[in-house]
Order: sequence, then structure tokens, then C-alpha cells
Amino acid sequence: MIERTAERGGRVTPVHGPGAGAPPLAGLGEEGERAALAADARDTVCRRAEFLLPPLPASARHPEVAYFAGNSLGLQPRAVRAAVQAELDDWALHAVEGHHRAAHPWLPYHAELREDAAALVGAAPEETVVMNSLTVNLHLMMATFYRPAGERTRIVIEDHAFSSDSYAVRSQAVHHGLDPDETVVRLRPRPGEDCLRTEDIVGYLAREGHRVALVLLGGVNYLTGEFLDIPAVTAAGHAAGCRVGWDLAHAVGNVPLALHDWDVDFAAWCSYKYLNAGPGAVAGCFVHRRHVTDPDLPRLAGWWSTEQATRFEMRPELVPVPTADAWQISNPPILAMAPVRVSLRMFAETGMAALRERSLALTGYLEALLAEVVRDRPLEIVTPSDPARRGAQLSLRVGGGAGGGGGGGDADATGLADRLHRVHGVLADVRRPDVIRLAPVPMYSTFHDCWRAADALAAEVTPS
Ligand SMILES: Cc1ncc(COP(=O)(O)O)c(C=O)c1O
Repeated sequence: MIERTAERGGRVTPVHGPGAGAPPLAGLGEEGERAALAADARDTVCRRAEFLLPPLPASARHPEVAYFAGNSLGLQPRAVRAAVQAELDDWALHAVEGHHRAAHPWLPYHAELREDAAALVGAAPEETVVMNSLTVNLHLMMATFYRPAGERTRIVIEDHAFSSDSYAVRSQAVHHGLDPDETVVRLRPRPGEDCLRTEDIVGYLAREGHRVALVLLGGVNYLTGEFLDIPAVTAAGHAAGCRVGWDLAHAVGNVPLALHDWDVDFAAWCSYKYLNAGPGAVAGCFVHRRHVTDPDLPRLAGWWSTEQATRFEMRPELVPVPTADAWQISNPPILAMAPVRVSLRMFAETGMAALRERSLALTGYLEALLAEVVRDRPLEIVTPSDPARRGAQLSLRVGGGAGGGGGGGDADATGLADRLHRVHGVLADVRRPDVIRLAPVPMYSTFHDCWRAADALAAEVTPS
């Protein structure tokens, strides 16, 4: 699939073709825009019409927003409002009896979401549960899987780990009476590089793994968009005797996952990014079958951890269930579960295979357009160019001169993102100090959105 290589800053970067379904590369002019619109007209996977797009600032030149922030907060599916309203109606109609008599009975509500969630992450239904929020689930998983003992105390994360993960693992170290600075190991990319290399992670685990209790990495890194080699890292961790868990916030609904076959110990994800289930939406969790069937594993528990049949007998001791449900603690928030149910159904209907194929085409197309833009501008794509090592997101580092459209001056990713939005209706997000993230989301983004993003960057960043 490699078509050519481009030399940037002394590094040779492979540039891949956009892939099937993408428009012919007719560049940024009118012909290019027509080609993008024609490719959108042919598209059969995109479900944009089923989502609500935020209105544009009056200053923007286009009638509709080009939304590239679905890796931060996904758009609202139109069907969500009715699904939440239906639960409100069932609550009004049935009150306490809604636990059994609601259209989607509340008592086993979480079980309705299980199969769709499992399919999305490549798991068996009994390995999957929708509950809580992401960082809470990571803590619940660590309560089980982070058991420092002897010299095996370390937790390995990426240096570019999302801050919440960093805080979570440091607090786990403290919780166990350990020094977080000594306990938490942050894996850094090689000097001059932005992304981690699989061989370096594997090498670290081969050398130091006997001191590591837990490896907890992001499947797709929030900043660089790098999709780590989950099976290779998991195998290396296991070979060294470590537990291996994954934060899949930026991976779920974005890249194909096979958590069971990859032998992952546990994983957790949120549902508000690519899954479009709304701000703070109820999250998901995976625990491998070999663990869910082990009743001796330590777990934190509550009344939703016990088997459903005897739950209301109010016994002092719970009856363990051989599924990921055993990690549930409280009864789930039904009003917040309804959007997750809608969203997971949409993924089940469209299928990750079709979404990934479309994603490869969209992101490949955006990358090819951006390659032209960044060539003579102070911008750099930091996401891996190999499509197998990334999902939808492309991260751009904004260098000096990319401010004010006039060249020169400080790196100003925030100012640039603001102008992309105000002037061009292109909504991207910034991770300070200097990274703009663009995520063409296969569920609803279009080739024309990608063309607009590249066109807007070309207009706003002065060639150097
Ligand atoms: C990679 C990653 N981990 C953790 C979090 C924190 O998630 P939550 O607030 O849902 O616990 C986020 C939020 O965006 C994230 O991107």
C-alpha cells in the first residue's frame, strides 16, 4: 500500500494512498472539491443525516459545520432524544414497577447492551459490561489486577498518557503505600520522535518486566493518535509475568479490536467519543474470560455484583457471577444508559468492518491532502503514517509562523483552531501547547469535510 516516501526533517515518512472509496486526488482547487463531493454522493456507509450538527458561527463561509472533534465528544444521534424520553415516560407510567415492566426493563438493562458492546471490542458477551465512567472502571480493574508484591510493584504507562490515567495509577501506588515517582514508569518515545515503537515497549518489558506488576497503556494515544500493537505488547507483558490492561477511550468505535483473542487481561473505555453516547456517558469494561470465571480474584463489590436471582434476598454475602457483571457495584443510571443503547445499536447495524474501511479511506484522503499543505508550511503530522498504526485521528503540530495568517510569531494552535472554526466552520480541537487534532469520524464525517479542513489550513497558515 505504500505509494511513495516523503522526506521531512531528515526522516523518511511513508505516505500511503487514501484507500478504496476515497476521491481521486484532485488537490485543493475546485476540481478537488467536486471530486470530494462526488465521493460523498457515492458513499453508502456514512450516517450523517442521523446526527445533529452544531450550528455554525455566523461568520463561517459554509452552511454546515465540518466536525472533527468526534474523538473528544461525538455528535448526538437523533434517536437519543426519543430513547431518553421513553425512559422518562416509563418512569412516569410504571414508577418502581419499571424495573420489570418498562419497555426495556431496568433490572436487567445493562444486559441488553452487553452483546453489542462485546462485538465492538472483540469479546464474548460475558467478558463485557457497560457501567460507571472510564477512570472509575480503571480503578475497579486495578483493585483486582494491580497487586504489587515483592519487587514486582511498577506500573507502566506512556509518557503521553492522558492525565486522568496518570493520576489514577499514581493514586493506586499511594493507596498501596508506595512512592508514585518510583512506582510509575512512563515510557518515552525515542529522542526526536513522537510515537512509541513496539520494539521499545517489548524491549523494556523483556529487561525490566520482572519488576512490573501492571502495564496500562492507551490503545490509541489521545495526543498522537498512535494505535499501539495491543497483541504484541500484551504478549510481551505476559511473558514477563505482568498483568496487561488497556485504556481504549480513543480506540473503541475507532479501530477494530479483538480483546479476547489478544488475551488482554482487562480494558476500559468511555462512550462519549467515537461511540456518540453523550457527555460523561456510561463507560464500558472488558475482563478476560479466564478472570471472570475465577471466583478467588479480589474485587470491590456492591449489590449489582451478586447474582440477579437472589439479589433481593438481602444476604450478607454475595453470590459471585462468572461474568464481567461481577465488577458492577451499583444499579446503573437508566437515563444515561439509554443513549449508550442507541449508540451501540448503530455500531452493530453498520459494523466495525465497514466503518474501518471507510475510516481508512477518509483519513488516508485527509492525510494525502494535508501532505500538500504541510510541505511548505510550519505544520507537521505527528500521527503514524502507517494506517495500521492509527485510527481516524491525525494530529498536527503547529510550528512557529502558523499564527494570524501572516507568518511569523509563536506557535499558536489555539488561535489557528479558533480561526478554522470561526472563518471556515471546521471544528477541530487543540491539545496544548501545539497540537491540533482532526478526526474524520467514519460514522458521520465526509470527504468534503476533509477537503474543507485541508483547504482551511492552507488558507490560514502562511507558507514559510
Ligand atoms: C485516554 C483517556 N483516558 C481517560 C479519560 C478520562 O475519562 P473519564 O473522565 O470518563 O474518566 C479520557 C477522557 O477524555 C481519555 O481520553
